[in-house]
Amino acid sequence: MTKFSFKSNSLALALAKITKNIDEAIELLQKGEIVAIPTETVYGLAANAFDEDAVLKIFAAKNRPHFNPLILHIGNLNQLQILVEELPTLAIEILGKYSPGPITLLLKKKPIVSDLVTAGSDYVAVRIPNHSLTLELLKRIDFPLAAPSANPSGYVSPTKAIHVEQQLGGKLQLILDGGDCQVGIESTILGFDTGKIIIHRLGNVTPEQLMQDFPDWEVIIANDGKERPTAPGQLKSHYAPSKTCYWGNITELIEKYNGVKLGAIMFRAKTNYIAEDKQIVLAADGKLKTAAKNVFTALRDIESMDCDIILLEELPNQGIGLAINDRLKRASSNN
Ligand code: TXA
Ligand code: MG
Repeated sequence: MTKFSFKSNSLALALAKITKNIDEAIELLQKGEIVAIPTETVYGLAANAFDEDAVLKIFAAKNRPHFNPLILHIGNLNQLQILVEELPTLAIEILGKYSPGPITLLLKKKPIVSDLVTAGSDYVAVRIPNHSLTLELLKRIDFPLAAPSANPSGYVSPTKAIHVEQQLGGKLQLILDGGDCQVGIESTILGFDTGKIIIHRLGNVTPEQLMQDFPDWEVIIANDGKERPTAPGQLKSHYAPSKTCYWGNITELIEKYNGVKLGAIMFRAKTNYIAEDKQIVLAADGKLKTAAKNVFTALRDIESMDCDIILLEELPNQGIGLAINDRLKRASSNN
């Protein structure tokens, strides 16, 4: 009798290697391959931004529409001069205050930045991520990295190397393992208008912080309640898990869906009205920062729970709570 051998199974899907080895990551990037990289916010799917063929591989692996532009990741402020036409004093001040860190600026691009990266816009999104492995990697290459979040288009962002492996593992060779992302939600994206700082995507750098640090400027949140996104990736249903989710005041939601088999993502404690094992608590310590770190893992984990509807508790609408509510609202926006 012949034994079935896994060795001869040529159909087995080759999964990406998860490693802390920067040298291997650099080698692949220099060859025009895509590599997943850790940042303080979420994992990115990176390629040489100056190599259009490499950038095309990002769009293909994510199944991302070409109208959705990519953020460029650089290691220091000097590299910014190569990419942007104008560097307003305000931009320098903002970067000085929060970079490296979870902040992305929209700035007028130089021709060296491909239209593929910016989806035809005159503005390029740039940030300096605050993660030691990735900063070291950026120091050792002579090109910026184009990197969207390392998830299939329309799905929640990955905050652990294993998340990338689970969803895109068959589509790339290497995931640089930098541990769990410490912020947990994507960077704050800012643009500028006369006298105004415009927040295109809420994130860890909060509106309150910006107002306090830059009191001479009006701080505006774009897309507030509007349908048309100004950052093209900010489509309403961007983070939709496969289960039906509803976001809002938890007491009202429980009353409304009484009798349905419910699951829930709660802020600081479980409720007695839903089965104990069908609830995930984001921050037992009551801190919004903890909730941000855990929210995308919770949205992943809740998918496998045996329930018909998932309720997402509205968090306090202050500080980073605004950004977390934004992501939770998007997760429920198909309903
Ligand atoms: O924290 C982050 O920003 C992560 C990590 C990996 O750096 N990146 C990330 O990338 O979230 P992505 O592609 O998932 O989201 C980038 C957002 C999208 O909504 C995109 O439309 C917007 O930034 N964006 C990028 N370039 C833009 C541009 N030139 N003009 C307007 N919006 C832009
Ligand atoms: Mg994304």
